[in-house]
Amino acid sequence: MTSSDRVETDPAGTLAEKVHVALGDRSYDIEIGRGLLGRSGELISPLLKRERVVVITDETASWHHLETLWGGLSAVGIAADAITLPPGEATKSMARLEQVLAQLLDLKVERDDLLIAFGGGVIGDLAGFAAAVLRRGVRFVQIPTTLLAQVDSSVGGKTGVNAAQGKNLIGAFHQPSLVLADIDVLDTLSERELLAGYAEVVKYGLLGDLAFFEWLETNGPLLKAGDASARTYAVKTSCQAKADIVARDEAERGDRALLNLGHTFGHALEAATGYSQRLLHGEAVSIGMGLAFEVSARMQLCSQEDPVRVRAHLTKMGMKTQLSDIAGELPDADALMALMAQDKKVSAGKLTFILARGIGQAFRTQDVDLDLVRRVIAEALFERET
Ligand code: GLY
Repeated sequence: MTSSDRVETDPAGTLAEKVHVALGDRSYDIEIGRGLLGRSGELISPLLKRERVVVITDETASWHHLETLWGGLSAVGIAADAITLPPGEATKSMARLEQVLAQLLDLKVERDDLLIAFGGGVIGDLAGFAAAVLRRGVRFVQIPTTLLAQVDSSVGGKTGVNAAQGKNLIGAFHQPSLVLADIDVLDTLSERELLAGYAEVVKYGLLGDLAFFEWLETNGPLLKAGDASARTYAVKTSCQAKADIVARDEAERGDRALLNLGHTFGHALEAATGYSQRLLHGEAVSIGMGLAFEVSARMQLCSQEDPVRVRAHLTKMGMKTQLSDIAGELPDADALMALMAQDKKVSAGKLTFILARGIGQAFRTQDVDLDLVRRVIAEALFERET
């Protein structure tokens, strides 16, 4: 693909695209395009045994978009209740889950009913987990309202809540029955939130698709500026990449771990900054991907130019790429290494790293010199101080 491969606007202006997630009798489609909230009833109706749904959402998604969703559902006569939760990571808790389950039971949700997860990653994970355990499993539809949720968390069936001991430690694989990624909802995101989601878009290029990374190098600024066809193409390509990986390895016994490129470093930085507004998940991933390529280059797995090129694109987009982009104090390299060792992907006491033989050529390995990793982190911290 070349930079001239822009997506042509279709005559109806809906930019309708579809990605299929092939998982046998749990297969589903991801619909991508403009105006999908307004068409939600028509798209969801074939899944319903009776004309009612319960929408689980947060105050932010509700404020911006619930009315449009209501319009789409009521247009075909679907009755809906909403459970509206506070925005933010704290909502992904056992206490909230219990509250939501009680509300769903009070609303007399039956085994054949359908829930809708309508929000960002927090809502998708919590509502998906509620769907996984309510009456031993009810179906649900993901309608993600952030870029991060559209390209990552709404696809692939990972659901769950956080524990006092760490993030995402309680959960289940429970695939949605349908995902609706409405490109129009991205218009209400702040630039910071859009770019945090964009880190996960770049991740798909870096882990397996050099041509897509090159397309992003050219078209990323257009996407950031609001171009709907560039956004649709990026979401579609990201979802296709994730769908292919999930179809190969749903339960993360192998290749699915590639989706964690930048995440081992990123999780340590998120933990060090208290999972707060100081550093959003996607920002931590952006910095983490740079560090993963830096380690790869030092191990002579990829060229010395690769980490430079990766960071150049992220920087051009206005994203965080260096530890110096994180405000406030950070712990030292040893403490960051200790936080990395707490990653939930540790198996038999060994950390799995996702490194790269070049842009688009990521692979899993436990064969990493931890002293070298510590040195890369220490140097990055030093650059921050000077
Ligand atoms: N977010 C990584 C995964 O779904 O596997």
